[in-house]
Amino acid sequence: MSNPSVPVSRRRFCAGVCQAASGATFATIFSACDGGSSPTGPSAMASQLGTVSGRLAGSTVQVTVAGSALADVGGAVLVESNAGVFLVSRGGESAFTAVEAVCTHEGCTVNGAAGDMYVCPCHRSRYNRAGKVVNGPATANLRQYSSSFANGVVTISL
Ligand code: FES
Repeated sequence: MSNPSVPVSRRRFCAGVCQAASGATFATIFSACDGGSSPTGPSAMASQLGTVSGRLAGSTVQVTVAGSALADVGGAVLVESNAGVFLVSRGGESAFTAVEAVCTHEGCTVNGAAGDMYVCPCHRSRYNRAGKVVNGPATANLRQYSSSFANGVVTISL
């Protein structure tokens, strides 16, 4: 005669071991992926910038300031347009800086911010508001564009 409690105990034991093992495996996988090493994952140290639409007008991209983080001095946004993606920040009442948002390392869109730094979500390169590399792996600066401000609109010259 078989003892029905033995298979159940083995089953429970194995289920417990499998759960623990899979939990440890997932913990290892997720800890390895933590902190923005994934191209789509957020960086643990950065917040995501707000996104606004830029309007392509000839050889310029126009960005309306009202209703975005650019309404305040110190604010910055990611601008999406038919001409590409840009990071625009406001350094003063009429002082804006526009740089290309394509990371010079491997081409991810730089969409994070930590303090006054832009942060790439892929490998955490950091750039200052002028697009200068502060921390790699990127080694080249983001391209800066001239811009002007009038009537509540930032105009980026391409
Ligand atoms: S693509 Fe690697 S740091 Fe931006």
